[in-house]
Amino acid sequence: MTMNKPLEQAMHNFSFARGLPAPLPRFVGMPRYNFVGGHNDPDRIPVDDLADAAARALRTHARQLAIYNLGTGPLGFEDLRDGIALRLRGRGMNVDRERVLVTSGSGQGLDLVNAALVEPGDTVILEEFTYSGALSKARRLGARIAGAPLDSRGLDVYRLGQMLDEMTRQGVRPKYIYTIPTVQNPTGSILPAERRHRLVELARHYRVPIFEDECYAELGFAAETPPALAALAPESVIHIGSLSKTLAPAIRLGYVVAEPAVLNQLVALKNDGGTGAIDQMVAAEYLATGYPGHVDDLIAALRRKLAVMTEAIEREFGTTVDIVRPEGGIFVWLRFPADFDVRRLIGPAAARGVVFNPGPEWACDPERAKNLMRLCFALPGEDDIRAGVAELAAACHEVAGFPQRSANVARSVQP
Ligand SMILES: Cc1ncc(COP(=O)(O)O)c(C=O)c1O
Repeated sequence: MTMNKPLEQAMHNFSFARGLPAPLPRFVGMPRYNFVGGHNDPDRIPVDDLADAAARALRTHARQLAIYNLGTGPLGFEDLRDGIALRLRGRGMNVDRERVLVTSGSGQGLDLVNAALVEPGDTVILEEFTYSGALSKARRLGARIAGAPLDSRGLDVYRLGQMLDEMTRQGVRPKYIYTIPTVQNPTGSILPAERRHRLVELARHYRVPIFEDECYAELGFAAETPPALAALAPESVIHIGSLSKTLAPAIRLGYVVAEPAVLNQLVALKNDGGTGAIDQMVAAEYLATGYPGHVDDLIAALRRKLAVMTEAIEREFGTTVDIVRPEGGIFVWLRFPADFDVRRLIGPAAARGVVFNPGPEWACDPERAKNLMRLCFALPGEDDIRAGVAELAAACHEVAGFPQRSANVARSVQP
């Protein structure tokens, strides 16, 4: 990044802390074909229902805004905690509002749990491919990250057991096993019930807590999903979730559920004066009214978009990439030929208005994920999904010479 003179001079006056992330450049707008991040579908934001919920919530509760934390303590707005607890009982968890801490997105939950448990040099276990935010937060804390193998059904609990055995032999006790069991990010798998039972047995046996992230759990495509890990072993699991993926990421509401001793520790670390109270009131009102129907409609819309996305990938890339079909959620995970590094596509794709998430950013061992790519299909409309995938294939052909045919038409220019 080149800096202008005054900015360069200003930078000399500051002595920044070590280990900061690279400074972000100024936001220059949204790309035309945006397949990155975990955005939601703008057409699925329940605009009128949210407006009505906001009006009702403010008329009923606005006087409480005069008081920090609405005068109801640091866990968050009680009606919202009730609404979240009700949804979690649907995940098999026997919880009430006293076990729910509202956070500013589940990202804050990740930060609080890390702050409570992780010191430099500690070992944490993450799934080999996982949420980039979980990776970057653990790396920033100086944790040693051990990647646990995944297969098409999620965490390979047999090999995880071997890992834990080996660590025990070496005198290492990891601070947690971070897992996204229900609609894994980025692979989209849902961990079967029998593996969940094995996983909690491992956690109990090796006395390593499970850090369960259920950000996408309500977006499974099948009628039923197995119970949350926190339902099976509440004493061994810290559970986080979010309204970002089912309602809207810009609302910034998430939650942590844990045993009281753990929760009290997290509350002591959450010294932010409380999560935005208007957001909490509106969400509480909406959770009690339109939310269940909204989630069903959203799932149906996401399934349609996924079909458009996979058809487009098959049409444009033919057999040159493998699609890992998700069991829910908003992402497809693509496998390019083993010797191809998807990072070579970043510039050429961007020049065509396409942005995507390269696999290495979603992997404990970036080199093992260089031929992998994550595409989010929730944000773009169906026409943009088709056009964006066509541009991505064109960029790929430019860079690598494949796919040689798209939509059954041979590409004439060879690199
Ligand atoms: C698995 C997972 N956990 C947590 C988050 C953080 O989400 P938020 O802070 O918006 O709740 C994300 C966002 O993409 C995610 O994919």
